[in-house]
Amino acid sequence: MAYLLGIDIGTSGTKTVLFDEMGNTVASALGEYPLYQPNIGWAEQDPEDWWNAVCLTVREVLSKSGINAAEVKGIGLSGQMHGAVLLDREYKVLRKAIIWCDQRSAAECEQITSLIGKERLIEITANPALTGFTASKVMWVKNNEPEIFEKIYKILLPKDYIRFKLTGEFATEVSDASGMQFMDIPGRKWSDEVLEKLGIEKSMLGKLYESQEISGKVHRQAAEATGLKEGTPVVGGAGDQAAGAVGNGIVKPGIISSTIGTSGVVFAYSDNVSIDPLGRVHTFCHAVPGAWHIMGVTQGAGLSLKWFRDNFCIEEKRTAELMGIDPYVLMDQEAEKVEPGCNGLVYLPYLMGERTPHLDPNARGVFFGLSAKHEKPDMIRAIMEGVVYSLKDCLEIIKEMGVDVSEVRASGGGGRSRLWRQMQADVFGTDITTVNSSEGPALGVALLAGVGTGVYSSVGEACDAVIKVENTQRANKALADRYSKMYRIYRQLYKSLKQDFADLAAIQ
Ligand code: XUL
Repeated sequence: MAYLLGIDIGTSGTKTVLFDEMGNTVASALGEYPLYQPNIGWAEQDPEDWWNAVCLTVREVLSKSGINAAEVKGIGLSGQMHGAVLLDREYKVLRKAIIWCDQRSAAECEQITSLIGKERLIEITANPALTGFTASKVMWVKNNEPEIFEKIYKILLPKDYIRFKLTGEFATEVSDASGMQFMDIPGRKWSDEVLEKLGIEKSMLGKLYESQEISGKVHRQAAEATGLKEGTPVVGGAGDQAAGAVGNGIVKPGIISSTIGTSGVVFAYSDNVSIDPLGRVHTFCHAVPGAWHIMGVTQGAGLSLKWFRDNFCIEEKRTAELMGIDPYVLMDQEAEKVEPGCNGLVYLPYLMGERTPHLDPNARGVFFGLSAKHEKPDMIRAIMEGVVYSLKDCLEIIKEMGVDVSEVRASGGGGRSRLWRQMQADVFGTDITTVNSSEGPALGVALLAGVGTGVYSSVGEACDAVIKVENTQRANKALADRYSKMYRIYRQLYKSLKQDFADLAAIQ
């Protein structure tokens, strides 16, 4: 039996999972770490925290599983996308990584657009300049911390920093690198034109692989730190969204996924480079060779509910601890008692600005329609509904682009909630399915490791062998009218508040 290891460097923690070749989870472990927010809209993490979490969780998984490290045939890496990890010539981290949800680089987006030209930028990188992407974060360092910029030897994405720690190789792969905005997306290679215009040396970037290709092997020091066997192959892997898509079988047309993690993502496979001219959804290379994907991203999905849990659900947390259950289970029960539409309460989930569809770093969270009648359960449900409306915004654009949507697969932490899945079915008006594994990104990159090491012949074959639909929830047509009226108000609210968000940001 071949065993495959998937390591996912997430925003709240690193999840490491060992699978057998049938995709069954043999053992898993989670190592958490902090998120630093030195200013409103800023978000940073310490790459050493990721590496420590990788060492701890790999050791834990190997010891729980009881298998010999030599039986691990291959390793796949997944991770939060877009973060800028900057190393000097001695391979030391120069500053905390500026991560995906950081919004400080609005001025740099304008700079990038004017240096390259709006249309040319979209032609090459398939996307407009966004605060979320790596390029604007690196340009922010160039403009604001020139003494650090001068020392940059390598620019790595979060999972690629872990690859460097494991193998000593400076490498990346097409799905995650697409979100750096240094790539020629149709050509699946670094763009000399973009790099030259932004003043970034190509040598600062890792070698670019397809996601299933072997990019290096675990070296002796890393083997000692993690318990892995020296020489174990590490494949390219994928950014968390493409990895999660592979882990949910989104590797052919028709099936799309809706993921509620910290961010929320609606993801569709595409066998050509299809671009939204308004740039509201991203077009990136998929982890499947010769394929691309389109995805809409809402910044504050699970993040919204986690924010509410941590600030206002202390009681639920305490009770859940006594009962030995997850506080979200209790919050779900409270939300379930509230009628769809939350007695007129609407929530906008823009706690960290918004990408799809507004591309607005100044947008902020809103509860609209509060009355003295509302209680905490209304607020919990309003948050869940608001996140689903923002996913519907993503889905509608993807449909407008001509993508056929026959099935939506729910995933991510939020996808575990039956109630949240039902809201998606009712608001989207489509069936929502879940598959037999909930390990999404970790499973996806373990499958890629299986393809790279010859366990499976292709990504499609790996998914067919392992991923099966397990549960289907049907849309409740009786709620369609109420939800579409609430969704209309949700859409209207951003338009009404756009200027107020900008004015508020100007004060700060
Ligand atoms: C995708 C994105 C997020 C992060 C964190 O573009 O920014 O999904 O990868 O999960």
